[in-house]
Amino acid sequence: MTDATWISVDEARDAGRVGEQVELRGWVRTRRDSKGGFSFIELNDGSCFGNVQIIADQSLPNYEADILTLSVGSSIVASGELKASQGKGQSTELAASSLRVLGDAPADYPLQKKRHSFEKLREWAHLRPRTNSFGAVTRLRNRLAYSVHQFFQEKGFYYVNTPIITASDCEGAGQMFRVTTLPIEKIAGSGGKVDYSRDFFGKSSYLTVSGQLEAEIYATSLGRCYTFGPTFRAENSNTTRHLSEFWMIEPEAAFFDLQDNMRLAEEFIKALLTDVLQDCQEDMAFFDQRIQPGIIESLESVRDTPFKHLTYTEAVEILEACGESFEFPVSWGADLQAEHERFLTEKHFAGPVILYNYPKSIKPFYMRCNDDGKTVAAMDVLVPGVGEIVGGSQREERLDVLLERMKELGLSEEEYWWYVDLRKFGSVPHSGFGLGFERVVQWTTGMTNIRDCIPFPRTPGSAEF
Ligand code: 4AD
Ligand code: MG
Repeated sequence: MTDATWISVDEARDAGRVGEQVELRGWVRTRRDSKGGFSFIELNDGSCFGNVQIIADQSLPNYEADILTLSVGSSIVASGELKASQGKGQSTELAASSLRVLGDAPADYPLQKKRHSFEKLREWAHLRPRTNSFGAVTRLRNRLAYSVHQFFQEKGFYYVNTPIITASDCEGAGQMFRVTTLPIEKIAGSGGKVDYSRDFFGKSSYLTVSGQLEAEIYATSLGRCYTFGPTFRAENSNTTRHLSEFWMIEPEAAFFDLQDNMRLAEEFIKALLTDVLQDCQEDMAFFDQRIQPGIIESLESVRDTPFKHLTYTEAVEILEACGESFEFPVSWGADLQAEHERFLTEKHFAGPVILYNYPKSIKPFYMRCNDDGKTVAAMDVLVPGVGEIVGGSQREERLDVLLERMKELGLSEEEYWWYVDLRKFGSVPHSGFGLGFERVVQWTTGMTNIRDCIPFPRTPGSAEF
């Protein structure tokens, strides 16, 4: 063996390394044999979007046995000298002095050169990260996750892990997955009532729909915190924007009012865009060329333009007057549908919009009641292409108002005793929001379906892998 150093394809594409003896390890994307007695192999190892070309000469001892039979998808180790490339679109290439096959990929390897639809690739979630598109989405998602932590850490927010199993339905929408160890086969046959006091946790428990209520505990102790974890919703919506398991970032800050909350959300979203536009240029160029033409320019414009703010009431007035024919009617008091939100952000304002002060009848119990008696201090951020990306609010910090609201909604004070306690002991105004992580990935990559923005999507009827 030579004393070649193992480096990534990303490192090998750096012209500054020309002349070094290096070793590359990865998967074969293509092979082309030249009549002149050598082969070109495109190698990718996931470290970046692009490949490195390896030139394997017939003088290699295993040229006929291994290289002329080398198939797409095989894993190899190649070493040799890194040279300046003559070919266009690449700065370096490897002149192989040795090439070893680690794992062959027979002819039934599904990802042959022909393009596959994203629907088809979802059936091969174990192989799709080897494609250009999913490699790029995965790297972008990774950069966004890193940015989330960078942004909040720099602002003095503490990262708090909230429970995945919980007994409370934060959003009150009743879309919870039950967690149980009770023998449901037996119970189903008995036709009787289920005694959940005999269940594992001694009460009904579920997968969480949001870490907010627990985040409030930490915000009203440490001042500022954020969660970043998986959340689960058993809603039967087969749309391109819903998952049953999705990741959410939920900052929560004491002494923040709704205005502070909206400012934080805007600054946060812009920081995420700044980072991916700056650090994922090769992947972004691919999304711009192949997935959604114009995406870079559109994200740059969002990054550089102040978000539009308007109240729910103003939004309803615009929608009622716009003359557009919607599937769902618009009227004050009704929840806005995706089509309404998209009209506002895509057509009317052609940019991000923050809607605030929603009717209290369509919002959860914890939102702060406004003086008008009809609305709550809620806010949603809507962006073109995706619609709602953030939902948040100022929380009700007044004990009497909270208890009154819970009574109205039939929530039991005993069950939420600890949440109520926060209002009894040193209550403070506080606010927070939730950003749907996959929706950000969907927005910034331009991918059409949110199922292609998470490695292993869970949706109604589908939990493979
Ligand atoms: O608006 P939501 O339901 O708000 C909450 O859960 C609050 N507790 C957040 C808070 O104030 N701390 O959800 C927040 C965001 C939505 O704006 C959306 O981006 C995303 O989570 N989201 C989903 N993403 C994918 N699939 C689903 N089924 C989603 N439901 C919500
Ligand atoms: Mg919402």
